[in-house]
Amino acid sequence: MDRRFLIAMLVVSAAVFGFAFSHFSGRGKARHYTEAQIQRGAYLVNTIGGCNDCHTPKEMTAHGPVLNKKMFLAGAPSDEKVPAIPKGLGKKGGWALFGTMDGTTFAGPWGVSFAANLTPDTATGIGAWTESMFIKSMREGKYWGSGRSLLPPMPWEEIGKLSTNDLRDIFAYLMSIKPIHNSVPDLIPPGGSHR
Ligand code: HEC
Repeated sequence: MDRRFLIAMLVVSAAVFGFAFSHFSGRGKARHYTEAQIQRGAYLVNTIGGCNDCHTPKEMTAHGPVLNKKMFLAGAPSDEKVPAIPKGLGKKGGWALFGTMDGTTFAGPWGVSFAANLTPDTATGIGAWTESMFIKSMREGKYWGSGRSLLPPMPWEEIGKLSTNDLRDIFAYLMSIKPIHNSVPDLIPPGGSHR
């Protein structure tokens, strides 16, 4: 076979693979950031940011809840079972918030909210997001950066007060973690049916 043809074929297949990879995960975006940005993002997310508290499912052990590492920051599991919602939730003087045992799903006067998949999976996570979408989502509390208002208990009002550099570093880190395919269930409006 002609050597130039072979080289051309290799270039084409590398491009196709590159496209396929970037199509299924936004992880390649992490390349736009320095290692220092990613490390600082990791520090913010995994310490005071507390993102794991809600965005990583927990397993209950004799010593309390531990993070399910296989679902690191992947949000409420797609097959999350929503228990029956107690009557009177959100009434004055009553209970305002209930959470599931895995710590990713929350019932309150707003209905039922499910912590989002923050991994760079393109189809089910935030792999298709741009950095500015992420910053806008945190600053303005909007789903996908410009959609409906984000529901409790997502603390976007506090997170959104971080500096642009901090939010950028958080995004850089999220783009660098392992993409996990997990389709988080849709929110259930107040009085809506649970599955
Ligand atoms: C107390 C629980 C809690 C904490 C802590 C938390 N989140 Fe959330 N987050 C949620 C819930 C619940 C939702 C889904 C809200 C909705 O559907 O409106 C959400 C949604 C999001 C979304 C929106 C995704 C989308 O599809 O629009 C992003 C982005 C996000 N969180 C990032 C973060 C980051 C980054 C941190 C840490 C710095 C964090 N969250 C900490 C509960 C939390």
